[in-house]
Amino acid sequence: MKNIAIFASGTGSNAQKMMEHFAQHSQAKVTLVVSNKPKALVLEKAQNFGVATQVIQRDRFYHSAEVVESLQNQQIDLIVLAGFLWLVPQNLIAAFPNKIINIHPALLPKYGGKGMYGMRVHEAVVANQENESGITIHYVNEHYDEGKIIFQERCLVTPDDTPADVAKKVQALEHQHFPSVVEQLVKKLSNP
Ligand code: GAR
Repeated sequence: MKNIAIFASGTGSNAQKMMEHFAQHSQAKVTLVVSNKPKALVLEKAQNFGVATQVIQRDRFYHSAEVVESLQNQQIDLIVLAGFLWLVPQNLIAAFPNKIINIHPALLPKYGGKGMYGMRVHEAVVANQENESGITIHYVNEHYDEGKIIFQERCLVTPDDTPADVAKKVQALEHQHFPSVVEQLVKKLSNP
């Protein structure tokens, strides 16, 4: 059985889908939800699901081994970032090589990088009159949104779409694909 930790800063709709997907799974389960925000809704969602939660503090995240050691002690095999807004520190990346993945609400390398998250992404897509957007699931490295791409899916953006419309289309793709992409990675970890 592989143990998945989800890192999230906000509402946690993707975390919710992930916990549902793996609730009865034979190869993996979500055993921990980590947030940098003590009041993030994702923490309530985890508690409702009976999943352990942990709130992290900036200082300790960037300047101590505490988070890495805690994840290792809990035998976490895969870290899934689902709307987590802090850059992942080098010590965490080194401790979990190719075992940290992120979802981004656009077609990277477009609309990525520091400050590009949530509605800001969709606002930029609409402002630039793009005719498509989508999702990118990728490995995490020490730069925002730059690790190797694992999966992308596209959706159409029409001239009358508002940023909120684009957000809806993108979120539907996220909920449809993220759990199954994570499941494929779990299978690879189980049978390398
Ligand atoms: C998701 O759309 C995710 O792609 C995005 O935050 C949202 C979290 O929603 N992530 C980023 O923008 C990272 N740069 P959720 O809390 O409902 O899962």
